[in-house]
This record gives sequence, C-alpha cells and structure tokens, in this order.
Amino acid sequence: MNTVKILTSQAVPGMVVSEDIYTKDLHLIISKGTVLTDKIITRLNFYSITDFYIYSDENLVKVETDYFENTFYTELKKSESFNRFYQAYHNSANRIKDSMDSIMDNHNEFDADKLLSEVRNILYHCSTNIELFHMLHCMREYDDTTYIHSLNVALICNIIGKWLHFSSEDLEAITLAGLLHDLGKLFIPNEIITKPSKLNDFEFSMIKTHTIRGYQILKNKKIDERVKNATLMHHERCDGSGYPNGLLSHEIDPFAKLVAIADVYDAMTSARVYRGPLCPFEVINLFETEGYLKYDTKYILTFLEGVVQTYINNTVRLNNKMEGQIVFINKFDLSRPVILSNGQFIDLSKQRDLYIEALI
Ligand SMILES: [Fe+2]
Repeated sequence: MNTVKILTSQAVPGMVVSEDIYTKDLHLIISKGTVLTDKIITRLNFYSITDFYIYSDENLVKVETDYFENTFYTELKKSESFNRFYQAYHNSANRIKDSMDSIMDNHNEFDADKLLSEVRNILYHCSTNIELFHMLHCMREYDDTTYIHSLNVALICNIIGKWLHFSSEDLEAITLAGLLHDLGKLFIPNEIITKPSKLNDFEFSMIKTHTIRGYQILKNKKIDERVKNATLMHHERCDGSGYPNGLLSHEIDPFAKLVAIADVYDAMTSARVYRGPLCPFEVINLFETEGYLKYDTKYILTFLEGVVQTYINNTVRLNNKMEGQIVFINKFDLSRPVILSNGQFIDLSKQRDLYIEALI
C-alpha cells in the first residue's frame, strides 16, 4: 500500500498512520496502524511532531466527527456584547494585517504603539479576563490565518502577563511579542502554508524557517530585545526538543517560553479545517500530564490555574453524558474539578473513569 508524508496540521481524523511515531527521546506516541482521532492529533501537535507518514489509500480516510452543539457559546454569540466584541476584533485584525504587511517592507517605520493600540481596543470591550476568554472561544470558528492567530496569542500573552503581575512596560512588550511571533510566516508562500496535499522536504523546512526569518526582520528595529527573541525562540522547548536551535531551558528567553504556551493553547483550542475547537479541559489535561518538561514550570502553572479559574460555574458535559456545574477546582489536578450534578458532588480527581467532554 502507498504511503505519503503529511504535515501534522494536515492530519484529519480517520487517517491511518503507516509508521511508529516517537518523541525525540524515543518514547512511543502512537504505533503503526493507528487510526487518527482529534485526541491523537492533539497529542502529535503537543509533542511537536511536525510531519509523519500515512497510508494513502483513499478508502482508509473515513472522517467521523461528533461535535456537540455548544449551548453556552451559542447563547453568548447572540448577545449584544459579543456583537460589539466581534466588530472591534475584526476591525483591529484588519488594521493589524495592514501594519504587519508594511513591517515586511524593511523601509517602513515600525510603529509598535499603533499595533498595541489595536490590542487595547479589543481589551476595552472585555471587563474581565473571564469575559475575554469566553469571547475568544466564541471566535474559534473564524478565520484560521496567521493574523488572527497572532492577535489571539497577543491577547492570551496579555492575560498571562497580568496573572504573573508583570509591570505595565513588560505587559506591553509581551503583548507585542505575541503579535509578532509568527511574522516570519508571512514570508512563506501561502500555497505552502495552506497546501492540502503532500509537502516535500523542502517545503517542510521552509515552514520551519519562519522563526529565523521573523527575527531577521525585527533584529534592527528599535524594539525590546525580548520581543525579537520570542520571535526566534517560540518553538524552542525546555527539554531541547524544539527548533530552530534545540535550546535548553536556561538558553531560552523567558518571553519566548511564555509565547510558546499561548501559541500552543491557541492552536489546540482553535477550529481547524478538519475539526471543531477542542475542549479546553482536554488541552489543560495534556499540559498538566505531559507539559512540565517542555514548558516553563512557573509560567505553565500560573497559566493553567488561571484558565481553570475562568471556567468556575460553567456547565459541562462529562463523558457519561451527565451534565453539571464546575464548583471547586482541584489545585493538584486542574483538569479534574468537582462537578455539581443533580444535587450530587462528583470529584473528577477521584472518579478517574470520568472526564469533561465539553463546555456547554
Ligand atoms: Fe510559530
């Protein structure tokens, strides 16, 4: 049977993997013959597996999606406040696109303040971080472009920076780092970024160069060095498994470590062509069980604790189809809070067979 190499971003539930896939330190992630599901694709992204081989027989690709209607977000999307947020978000995103395009021309002045004012404009429409997180989740089905992703990462960086009690100066710098981290992707031909079929080795290595290309554009601009480093190092991982230089924790700029968390969280909770947004608790569980070696411990703990707090009082559906409200957070098991369902407390840290399947 034929096999083809695909990018993990092109993976679709139902595809069948034609090789054993290992982490860099040789732990088996999935074995040959595994049928891909959303959960497995999330794991591959999480371990920074950028490409792998699948069987190319068309008959093996059976896409089965089983997504639940998300009533909480459906209601929020009908609200006036979301409408205002949506308008502000899209207006700002368009202006950010124009600014980024002009940064690509080296002769243009770099106006960091103008870019940051666009983020401030969006933040103005949300009185709390909780509201911002919910609004962002309502945007998950919209355009999956470098500009939208960059804006989301900037907003998430801003929230984490606040949780970490950054000074206002550092907060501006980390927000700018989020906005500019993928700037180098604008150099990569769109046909490669959006190519639906097999990429050759040259195209794969082209995509990986976005870190260095982004840095080259920024290196002579009058902006905070940490912003430039975040562009260069946001795909580095603390255990040395990242790129472009396989740096270790102490060699990676703290801003790059923070952008890395916002980047992965946004990518995993955003809709892709082949799937809807993943439940944040699934993403939190992955970070919690497998992320401490790859990401900065203090940053990841602050981030996960903060994200989980935003979902207190939310209604969720468990894998046994029971519904209930999140009432307590387990500090040592963040993806497994206590749920109140039909007057009964369910402690997910004790009932290990149950997990949160969806926010509703
Ligand atoms: Fe990137």
